[in-house]
Amino acid sequence: MTTPAATNDSSALPTLPTELIELNEAQLNEFASAAETFITRATEGRALQELRVQLTGKKSLLTSWSKQMGKLDSNDKKTYGGWLHQVRSRIQEALTSQQQQLEVAALNAKLETERIDISLPARGGQKGHLHPVTMITQRMQQFFVQAGFNVATGPEVESDYYNFEALNIPSHHPARAMHDTFYFDAHYLLRTHTSPVQIRTMEKSAPPIRIICPGRVYRNDSDQTHSPMFHQLEGLMVTESSTFADLKGLISEFLQAFFGKELTVRFRPSFFPFTEPSAEVDILADNGKWLEVMGCGMVHPQVLTNCGIDADKYTGFAFGMGIERFAMLYYGIDDLRLFFQNDIRFLKQFG
Ligand code: PHE
Repeated sequence: MTTPAATNDSSALPTLPTELIELNEAQLNEFASAAETFITRATEGRALQELRVQLTGKKSLLTSWSKQMGKLDSNDKKTYGGWLHQVRSRIQEALTSQQQQLEVAALNAKLETERIDISLPARGGQKGHLHPVTMITQRMQQFFVQAGFNVATGPEVESDYYNFEALNIPSHHPARAMHDTFYFDAHYLLRTHTSPVQIRTMEKSAPPIRIICPGRVYRNDSDQTHSPMFHQLEGLMVTESSTFADLKGLISEFLQAFFGKELTVRFRPSFFPFTEPSAEVDILADNGKWLEVMGCGMVHPQVLTNCGIDADKYTGFAFGMGIERFAMLYYGIDDLRLFFQNDIRFLKQFG
């Protein structure tokens, strides 16, 4: 075997004598050039490796020529040694350089296929948002927190004492009947309003007190404007000088800020066992009708006393509003139950 097998292309390796002594320099140069051409045509690592074996391996012409060096006299040794060395160097260099080029080409091809086209438009992920009742709660909180109120919380499973007794609603009181309470037993119930948080807060902290309490409340009632679970936001302020005028001012400011427009607000005398005097707050709707939006009043002195607060020294006011009611007015929704049906077609309108 004297030439690589790939002879279907025009520039096959020249067929040279196997006897070293029969060679001249021109033939060897021609051989080296042809080998270089072959090498630069190898387009993959395996083909190049095969060429390396054929051209420089144990069974190659070059190796067989080198083996014949021992038979030469010292003069020829020098001449042929020089020539062979040159041929071997040229072939080795060509092999190394082609090897490097193949590696670079392979890397570039890999980079090309892994390229990320940053100009492609994004897939457009679906972005969620908060529940409308949560957004309304936050809108309410935002106003009161700016006005210096802290956010308080309390348990939803409440005792009869906190939900009623401490709020001046003894067991025989007719107000209890109005609450449609879910009872667990004689003592425990699901809170029917957020007012028990007033008691819990006053019991453990001294005036001045300024808190709001948003949270879930429960009443056995369900129709277009009632759900057995709904949300209230309670407010309580107790200082040495809180007045009904302060309450009116704060609530009027809140309503204008919440609805973002001038409103006609009315405080209509009402009754709650835990406030005295008490009022219901109405706003005048566009259609000329008054809409009731919350209950409020001056904290009843007995309630302050129940919590260990000196009713001669301190006065306070409280208010409580239904969050869904505000959400319905704010968004123009006429069925409260929609908030809790989790119909995505309804909910996604509030993004
Ligand atoms: N807790 C009352 C209710 O649920 C509302 C209210 C709160 C009234 C605070 C006065 C003061 O109807």
